[in-house]
Amino acid sequence: MAPKPWADEPFALLETPSKTMDKSSHYAIVVASEMTHSHNVLIRGLNSIYQQAPLVKNPQDVEDLLFYCQAWVMMVHHHHETEEETLFPDLEEFTQKPGIMAGNQAQHNAFHDGMEKFSEYAKNTKPDEYKWDEMKAVIDAFAPSLYTHLREEIQTLLDLRQYDSDGVKTVWGKTEDAAKGGKHPHLFEMIMPCVMGNVDKTYEGGIHKEFPPWPFFIPYAVHYWFARSHTGAWRFCPSDFWGNPRPLTFQ
Ligand SMILES: [Fe+2]
Repeated sequence: MAPKPWADEPFALLETPSKTMDKSSHYAIVVASEMTHSHNVLIRGLNSIYQQAPLVKNPQDVEDLLFYCQAWVMMVHHHHETEEETLFPDLEEFTQKPGIMAGNQAQHNAFHDGMEKFSEYAKNTKPDEYKWDEMKAVIDAFAPSLYTHLREEIQTLLDLRQYDSDGVKTVWGKTEDAAKGGKHPHLFEMIMPCVMGNVDKTYEGGIHKEFPPWPFFIPYAVHYWFARSHTGAWRFCPSDFWGNPRPLTFQ
């Protein structure tokens, strides 16, 4: 019997650079690897919607699905906002190359409007109006360009190996602090459960257990506190909040 589909398809997960490259040889490899972990979280989330949404019929399940979709969009936005506000300008300054991230910025713009339409669809659709074919068309309008961006940004970061390793490390430290910053109004009850539920600690043979670099109690806080108000939505996560993959709820 063929194995059941999981959140590693239809959009293929990205290979982590540190799987084949020595992280201690240059900090750009650490940065590109960390970014790959984050991008794979976004890709698993997209796949978990793509795999399960066609099978959701019951109005309560649809309501939960649409909330999960909103959380996913918010998670993707939060990722890109951090890059645009912190990482991209800091890299331009550090490399002294204005426009070094312009290609990545242009890619952000290419999928932004389509993702906004998806967010509106998820917010405004009543459970009894939901149709997978309609939502699939909305997702298909932006998902390929988002995916291309998530893949290509890793190479841009690997190309930073031509610059000073310690300087790259300093820039990345600022981005990590910004990503952890609690300014986003829905960081705790939407973005964090969505991130934690899309981690896979077993990926590539379990060599990336250090991701996400958060204190050990965070999964407990998410599970027992932050995720409580929307437990139905988090059924769509492909992993539990500790990063253990589990069978998809709808399959
Ligand atoms: Fe990114």
